Parts: sequence; C-alpha cells; structure tokens
Amino acid sequence: MDLKNTFFHQVSQRFQTHFQAQPELIVRGPGRINLIGEHTDYNGGFVLPASIDKEIIFAISKKEGTTCEVYAENVGDSTTFSLDQLEKSRKGWPNYLMGVVDQLQKRGCKLGGFRLVFGGDIPTGAGLSSSAAIECGLAFCLNELYALGLSKIEMVKLSQAAENQFVGVQCGIMDQFASMMGKANSVIQLDCRSLEYQYFPLELNDYLVVLCDTAVKHSLGNSEYNTRRQECEAGVDILQRKYPEVQLLRDATPAMVETCRDEMPAKVYDRCRYMTEEIERVQLACQLLLANDLEGFGQKMYETHDGLQHLYEVSCPELDFLVDQTRSDDNVLGSRMMGGGFGGCTINIVRKDAVDAFEQKLAQAYHEAFGIDLKCYRVTITDGTEAITA
Ligand code: GLA
Repeated sequence: MDLKNTFFHQVSQRFQTHFQAQPELIVRGPGRINLIGEHTDYNGGFVLPASIDKEIIFAISKKEGTTCEVYAENVGDSTTFSLDQLEKSRKGWPNYLMGVVDQLQKRGCKLGGFRLVFGGDIPTGAGLSSSAAIECGLAFCLNELYALGLSKIEMVKLSQAAENQFVGVQCGIMDQFASMMGKANSVIQLDCRSLEYQYFPLELNDYLVVLCDTAVKHSLGNSEYNTRRQECEAGVDILQRKYPEVQLLRDATPAMVETCRDEMPAKVYDRCRYMTEEIERVQLACQLLLANDLEGFGQKMYETHDGLQHLYEVSCPELDFLVDQTRSDDNVLGSRMMGGGFGGCTINIVRKDAVDAFEQKLAQAYHEAFGIDLKCYRVTITDGTEAITA
C-alpha cells in the first residue's frame, strides 16, 4: 500500500527517538464506515461496514519483564503499566490497550512486556471507530510478537470484550469486525448473530462516499447507548410472552411488534419498531446495491436516518441539519447519521463531479447555523488490520 500519506514514518521515527531502538513490527489498524444497519449489531441483525483509509499505526517491540511502555503520538502523552497489575486509567486512552492485554491474559495467552508508539489520523469521537482500531491493532501486534496463534475472529471477539468490560461501553461487534476483517474496495455483509459474512465489491461508479464531521460529541452518547440496549432487551422480554421464539429483536418483525404495542412502554415500542424495520431494510438495501440501484439504496439511507432521528432517538440537531441540507440536492443519493450517534459524522453518497460544490455548500451552511467548521472526508475502502513494511 502507499505509505506516503500515512503516519507510518512519523510513528516509526517517534519509536526510534523515544526508545532509542528500531521497532520489531509495524501494524496498521483502520477505522470504519457503515453503509447501513445502525444499532442492529447488538440485536443480532445485519450490518454493511468497511474499513477505510483513516488509520492508526503501531510501532512495537517486545520488552523483557512485565512492564509495558506506551507513547501516544496524537496526545503527546505516555503511560506505563504492568501485565500483572492492570488498573483502569483516568486518562482514558490507556484503557483500550489495557483492556486488550486483560482479555488476552484471561484467555490464558502468555504475554511479555512491550514498547509501543501509536498514532494516526482517525478523528476521535467522530464515529469512525478509533477505539476499535486501537483494540484490534494491539491484539494483532501481540498475536504476532508473542506467536499466540489467535485467529482474526478470536481477536475481533476479544477486542469487543475489552471495550465491554474494561472501557465499559456495551458496544456490539461491528466496529471491531470491520476494522480487523475489512477488504479493499469491498463492503462486508455481516450477520451479527451467526458472524457469517461475505464481501461484495462496492461499485459506486460516478459517486463517492463522503463523510461530514459535525465535530460534536454530546456527552450522553455512551450512557444513552447502554440505555438503548436495555430498551431493546425490555422489548424482547415483552415480545417473548407472545412469541417464545424471540431471543433477540432479529427474530421479530415489525408486524409482531405491532401486535405487542399495547403491552409496551411508548419508548420501548419506538425502539423495537425502528430496529425490526432496520433489520429488514438492510436486507433490501443489500439487494438494491447488488442490482446496482444506487438511487434505491440512497433512499434506504434516508429512511434509516429518519428512524434513528424519530424512533430510536440517537441523532442530534447537528446531524439532522447536515442530512436535511442534502435532501433536495440531486447530486446526493443518500445521507444519514453513522455509528452510535449523538454527534460524529454523516455518511453521504455524492456525485464525484459535484463533491467540491457539495462540501463548500455544506460547510458554509453548517458554519452559519452552528459556528463550527465542517470537516469532510472522501473515503477509500482499504484492507483491515495488517502488518506493514516500508
Ligand atoms: C457504535 C458501536 C457499534 C454499533 C454502532 C451503531 O459504533 O460500537 O457496535 O452498535 O455504534 O450501529
């Protein structure tokens, strides 16, 4: 791959100046986009993500003993922890690393210490899964360095468990799966219940994927995320009384939810309605994409946004504003909020020859409305977590 624009050189040079040595291994861990299927992962539904050319680079070497020394290039900060005494750090960022070490040790993997420098260009809090990139990247590094013999799927699962247990966000499996398993120019159609997946090439022809970054992250994000999970579980409990076969919302349909409406608190009904509709929508959207019906696919993206805004209630005024700006623009096929919500990016499918004008128009409108500079990222789909050499 072309390393010109990556943090490869910056991170490997930092390793040399910081530790006075050459790294044994360099790994790249990408961020992800998701075309459609939002909040469906923890309900056993389908998602359609891909790993992208925004990434974190890891330069790492083994170290005698049990001490791990880490330098985080983006924050210009360092930390040291011991393999046999992992305690949650108030700084935040070390927890993604310690969580992975913790999970590896819980699985009986024999680790030694390490020296690590990591950094990259995935904006944090933008919904592009910088945390999954860190977790999967470190798992990959340690698997190589200490010849642990883990499969990629095992590393995906333990990275998710690190986030659930050590960081304390009850995320589903999509982000880690996409970061680790991505494939250049392809999207992954993943069944989050069985973990069966298939790649298919994303052929957008005259169109591009453009992300628009609100640059906001409303603080209720993580707690509301966990609340949505609980609301979905409450919905399953109610549905089960009538339909014992329902183990996850994946097993229910919008029609089944309707028949239980009177038994459900209003919010639980809204969440279940969005979720069962979205799970069906992803299937339809995949068929449209395979049939090269990009316009039809774009419509589904708008439907997803509307559901996330009004029924699932994980959007925010900044995201809604950016999506609304595109609704009457013939050069945009689809637009919606992406990821967990409460800030972060919208994902847009925009005509190539209109991208400059699109970005300018949105940046101006966004600045007038919120006084914030809009950042836009034109996305290329790359391979997932991998070792790289100069
Ligand atoms: C976050 C979580 C994922 C997924 C998305 C919403 O990115 O980490 O597991 O639930 O939100 O689709």
